[in-house]
Order: sequence, then structure tokens, then C-alpha cells
Amino acid sequence: MAAIITFAQRKGGAGKTTLAAHLAAGWALAGRRVAAVDVDPQGSLARWGELRGGLAGAAPLPVAKVSGWRLALELERLRREAELVVVDSPPHAELDARAAIRAADLVVIPVQPSPMDLWATQATLEMARAERRRALLVLNRIAPRTRLAQEIAATLGAGDVRLAATTLGNRTAFASCLAYGSSVEEDEPGGAAAGEVLHLRAEIEDMLRDGAGRGA
Ligand SMILES: Nc1ncnc2c1ncn2[C@@H]1O[C@H](COP(=O)(O)OP(=O)(O)OP(=O)(O)O)[C@@H](O)[C@H]1O
Ligand SMILES: [Mg+2]
Repeated sequence: MAAIITFAQRKGGAGKTTLAAHLAAGWALAGRRVAAVDVDPQGSLARWGELRGGLAGAAPLPVAKVSGWRLALELERLRREAELVVVDSPPHAELDARAAIRAADLVVIPVQPSPMDLWATQATLEMARAERRRALLVLNRIAPRTRLAQEIAATLGAGDVRLAATTLGNRTAFASCLAYGSSVEEDEPGGAAAGEVLHLRAEIEDMLRDGAGRGA
């Protein structure tokens, strides 16, 4: 049975689409059968997927654009077809974001290191809690030696929430290769950005294995 991983965060621009694209591409590159779903009407992940379709040598990765009443059905269909389903959810469309969280085995929540971003994260964590989903906070665009441990610990609160050991730096590589359908692990293997994505993938895989062990 496949796992559905939903990238969610009510705060706009936190890195949902960026993380979803790089992780999905990384898993595809590693030979996993991955499907991606773009729930956001902005359609950025789907646009990346289209560019990727024309990119010679890119690891295969279908990206579907789905929203509204078809979403839950489509996610269950993909769960039967793929090993990993990566879902990019919109910042504001409450109903679709909630449906994407409800279907998820794990909700990954990118957070940028600012008080506003941390505060906004509460709303997303509430959604994950209300749907009894496990959540993983990932610090994104973080400067070296950022000290946020206390603020983040306060944000985590109750529920099944973890803070990822992997953090992602503020790196132009994350943005630049998306512009032509690629990803950091494909473009700059061995680079710092690729290393971060690889670690985060391993961390998420561990969490999914744990969850399966617990019958989640
Ligand atoms: N680690 C990073 N380093 C550098 N730039 C980044 C990083 N993460 C995200 N960005 C940039 O930040 C901007 C917002 O990222 P992204 O679109 O992934 O956020 P989002 O949460 O999907 O936004 P939205 O809520 O609008 O869907 C983009 O321009 C992206 O290239
Ligand atoms: Mg987005």
C-alpha cells in the first residue's frame, strides 16, 4: 500500500511546492514509483511537471492537477497505483487543503524561520490534529546558526508532531532548477541542496516505516 505525503502550510510562500517537487523528483530518481498531485489552483507543481515531461533524462514523474470533489477519489486511486504519492496543497483553499491532509499518511509542513511563519503554522497543525494525522515540521530557508529551538518547541504543542532533524538552507539551486522541470538531486548531485533533500527523504521514509509498524 502506498503512502500519501501532503505538503501543507497556511502561510503562503513557505516552500510547499519547492519541497514537494524536489522530494518527488528525488524519489523518482531513486527508482520509486512516484505520483505527484497539484491541488493548488496556482498550478505551479503541474507546470513544473509539464516542463519535466519534455526534459531528456528526467526520472519519470506524472503530475496531476486535481481539486474539488474529485480529489479524495483521485488520491485513493493513486494510492493503489504508486508507491509514493506527493501532494502539494494550496495555502488558502480550506476545503481542498483539508481533504489533502485527511488522505495523508504524513503531513509535511515547511516553516520559514520568522515569528509570523511560526504563528501561522499553528493553524496548519490544528488541521493535522483535527484529522488525526502525523505531522513533520521542516525548517526551510534557514540561515546557519539560527536559534529557534524554544519558539519551535512551543509551536509543536500536543498531537503527533515532530520537528525534522534535516533543515533546508536558503539556496538559489532550489529555485533555479525548478524553472526548467528539474531538481537539485538531478542537477547538482553531491551539492549541499541535494544532500539536504536526500536526508529529508530518508527521514520521511523512516517516519512512514514507523507509522506502518504502528498500524497508522
Ligand atoms: N530553501 C529555499 N531556498 C531558496 N529559495 C526557496 C527555498 N524554498 C523556497 N524558496 C523560494 O520561495 C518562494 C516560495 O516557495 P514555494 O512556492 O515553494 O512556497 P509555497 O509554500 O508553495 O507557496 P504558496 O503558498 O504560494 O503555494 C519561491 O520563489 C521559491 O523558489
Ligand atoms: Mg505552492
